[in-house]
Amino acid sequence: MSQRKISRAVIKRLPRYYRYLGDLLDMGVERISSGELSQQMRVTASQIRQDLNNFGGFGQQGYGYNVRYLREEIAKILGLNTEHNMIIIGAGHLGTALANYNFEKNGFKTISLFDINPDLIGRTVRDIPIRSIDDLPEFLRENPVDIATLCLPKAKAKDIAQLLIDNGIKAIWNFAHTDLNLILPKDVVVENVHLSESLMRLSYTLKSRQQGEEE
Ligand code: NAI
Repeated sequence: MSQRKISRAVIKRLPRYYRYLGDLLDMGVERISSGELSQQMRVTASQIRQDLNNFGGFGQQGYGYNVRYLREEIAKILGLNTEHNMIIIGAGHLGTALANYNFEKNGFKTISLFDINPDLIGRTVRDIPIRSIDDLPEFLRENPVDIATLCLPKAKAKDIAQLLIDNGIKAIWNFAHTDLNLILPKDVVVENVHLSESLMRLSYTLKSRQQGEEE
């Protein structure tokens, strides 16, 4: 496969292709043309061809795309062909909700939550233990962890991120409403998820539609 640099814009679209291709497989669809995929995903066929050509295409003239093969290749590009161990820091509403969700189906396995609240420490969520944050360094020494998810108050996020980095964590999935970029060394990656920003974009689109309709 080509190792040339793939733009962030294309990488951002790949999970959506991956999801649609998974749905197609579930429906027993093994082969699809860029035209059909474009109709379902509501992106242009040329966009699909351009995006997928980044990786050598996978499409054949007159045949379309082999859904299973394409999904496997996208999985490899996204690193989904290996299992990732995750931990969650903050076992409150959000941390518990994430631990309850089955990310395992995409290879992301939550192996522990951590909290400071003595009422929570020792409990489990879906059989996953909640440990004391004090046990975090030892846990990281003894268990391979690829991703740490931050679900704690923003005032604590930077200190805990630093603790994670000092103990070898290279990837942070950050839900705390704070910018961690300032403290991040070059070899640590962070993905921020802010649901309220998504809601604000929805609010903007709704407002624009309403204003457009009124004009
Ligand atoms: P919560 O109050 O239910 O849970 C926070 C948990 O963090 C508590 O169990 C608390 O004991 C624990 N905690 C506090 N300090 C800690 C430390 N130093 N180490 C380990 N655990 C610690 O709050 P909720 O609703 O779960 O929200 C958690 C965070 O996520 C908040 O910062 C909130 O603003 C944010 N949030 C972000 C969203 C997003 O889309 N990015 C959506 C919802 C919440």
